[in-house]
Amino acid sequence: MIRSNYYTFKILRYDAKDPLREPYFQSYHVKVVSGLTVLSVLNRIRDEIDGTLAFRASCRSAICGSCAMVINGKIDLACRTQVATFESDTVILEPLPNFEVMRDLVVDMTPFWEMYEQVQPYLIRESAVPEKEIYQSEKDRKKIDQFVNCILCACCYGACPVIADEPGYLGPAAAAKLERFILDSRDERPADSLESVNTPKGVWACRTVFRCIDACPKDVRPTDAIVNLRKNLVKNRFNMILGSKKK
Ligand code: FES
Repeated sequence: MIRSNYYTFKILRYDAKDPLREPYFQSYHVKVVSGLTVLSVLNRIRDEIDGTLAFRASCRSAICGSCAMVINGKIDLACRTQVATFESDTVILEPLPNFEVMRDLVVDMTPFWEMYEQVQPYLIRESAVPEKEIYQSEKDRKKIDQFVNCILCACCYGACPVIADEPGYLGPAAAAKLERFILDSRDERPADSLESVNTPKGVWACRTVFRCIDACPKDVRPTDAIVNLRKNLVKNRFNMILGSKKK
């Protein structure tokens, strides 16, 4: 049975082009029928009540990763969050933490993409590119399953307490992406390519607080990736020392 209820959506408004105006909450009273997501309500507010409201969204299916925000204090995707699941009829929406706000719920993702690019997030081959596709067994595919699920929504980046304290930290998503390619049976990047994250602001900055895991809407575990990358770095260093002693 379709039920409807009135909700108050309190949305944090701000415009970086008008910095003299402090951020403020604006309330919208909206009738919501069961089954509606937070994103559906945002679309409705923008289309029917206030065309100045800014937010990002595209797929509406938890695939493109555009609609991450803080919903009643929890970082999540607006398109996969059902309004009817809230205990209160007041819903508070804020932009993702750890980013500069451009306007309302739209943040500047530049630092996130810079860290992502740093890990070379693509297959690197040393041998010649084959004429046909490179075969990958089911068993090998399973090794990267969870990391392939990352949709780059930046929920983990927004939840990470280290980024708040240490600007320039690699961040969970980039680390998970690097691990995804290191585990990929088709990737041939040299072992020393890991050195780019072997820095105080690389994988060693993580405090294993696990908030990235809690925040991920796709059940990716970036902390596991970071721990594995650290193990690989230590292993590489040992191999290097043993190799130089044998000479
Ligand atoms: Fe694409 Fe929400 S709109 S993930």
